[in-house]
Amino acid sequence: MSAKGRPEREFRPLGGSEVREPAGPPQGQTPECEARTSSVKPRAWGDHNDAASVRLAHCAKTFPDGTRALLPLDLEIQAGETVVFLGPSGCGKTTLLRIIAGLAQPDAGGRVFFGDDDVTARPIERRNVGMVFQSYALFPNMTVAENIAYGLRVRGIRADERRQQSARLLDMMRLAGLGDRRVDQLSGGQRQRVALARALAVRPRVLLLDEPLTALDAKLRESLRVGIDRLLRSLGITAVYVTHDQAEAMALGDRVAVMSHGRVEQIGAPQDIYYRPASAFVADFIGTMNRVSGERDGPSLRFPGGTLRLPDHAVAADHAMFRPQDARIVEPGAGALTGRVAAAFFLGSMTRVVVDLPGEQTIVVDTVERRSFVNGDAIGVDIDPDALVILES
Ligand SMILES: Nc1ncnc2c1ncn2[C@@H]1O[C@H](COP(=O)(O)OP(=O)(O)OP(=O)(O)O)[C@@H](O)[C@H]1O
Ligand SMILES: [Mg+2]
Repeated sequence: MSAKGRPEREFRPLGGSEVREPAGPPQGQTPECEARTSSVKPRAWGDHNDAASVRLAHCAKTFPDGTRALLPLDLEIQAGETVVFLGPSGCGKTTLLRIIAGLAQPDAGGRVFFGDDDVTARPIERRNVGMVFQSYALFPNMTVAENIAYGLRVRGIRADERRQQSARLLDMMRLAGLGDRRVDQLSGGQRQRVALARALAVRPRVLLLDEPLTALDAKLRESLRVGIDRLLRSLGITAVYVTHDQAEAMALGDRVAVMSHGRVEQIGAPQDIYYRPASAFVADFIGTMNRVSGERDGPSLRFPGGTLRLPDHAVAADHAMFRPQDARIVEPGAGALTGRVAAAFFLGSMTRVVVDLPGEQTIVVDTVERRSFVNGDAIGVDIDPDALVILES
């Protein structure tokens, strides 16, 4: 069981098919990649028992112009696990994915293993990975079914088997009935599901997804996110997913790796990352985190507008952090902090209240109380001491 409380992933065949499909070449992004084949023996489609673990040993990437896109990284992704790499633009997510895919080589000394296989020197077409990109990278001159079956065709799978295979994937992706359409007759969400089906058709050992939902609108993104989550779980496939969207990362990852400037700052279950951020960067990047600074006074932190009792382990802390939803609005003077309402935003499921503390510190508090707030009114805020986050300095 993962820390996320997911059930163990378990393969369920999608039907009693005799369809045989050679493993080997991946679903690459370009026809050039896909056209190359290898000689791994055929297996029944859907049997993901061979989902591979991925191990990166001392993988770094320095580009010829000196850009250090990835700093040396050691990391293991379990077979069947979904690890989401999350971070701002330019932090090295795609570079990392390309190293796993075999589209880029790590700096000298870096190694990539799939299970026990050292695949460092193997090009993408011999790693058996499936890739899905932000841009769909579908073939516009082919139908949906032909797109999905493309990888099978270049591997010499018979036409009737290809048809059977595509039909099953179309069903799985809720695209049934659309097999004969051209891809330019599909919506963005449908196209991305075709891209996913195409990547899965070749039964990859590792599925790599680079911001697959970024091009879609918010509502569609959310519904596809649910679909992808269900799919990854039911297939038991090893997946590496890259995004800058923290909600997506939290929802999909068995573990989330937060990256900044080519470095993995923290990797852990979504709850660990959220409730126990290891750095100020992680705390700020994942959701909203309040931070107040003050002077240490015995077990407490004092600052204009309040006093917070710190946990015993926070010996030398000069700050405390807390999530907006871990603070409670109370009468002025009744809580640990007192300030004034600077703004309040009704967001439907809650109200986000911005509170100015004396001495130029500002915090935000989320409340589900059905009341209105008047700017400038005095307000009290209380925080459960267990909800305080203190960074080790
Ligand atoms: N071929 C290249 N030559 C030089 N620098 C590069 C090259 N490709 C990427 N970089 C740099 O490496 C760093 C990491 O790039 P990368 O594409 O991995 O970021 P990313 O996290 O995927 O960003 P985004 O979210 O914008 O896709 C960036 O600073 C980028 O400019
Ligand atoms: Mg990228």
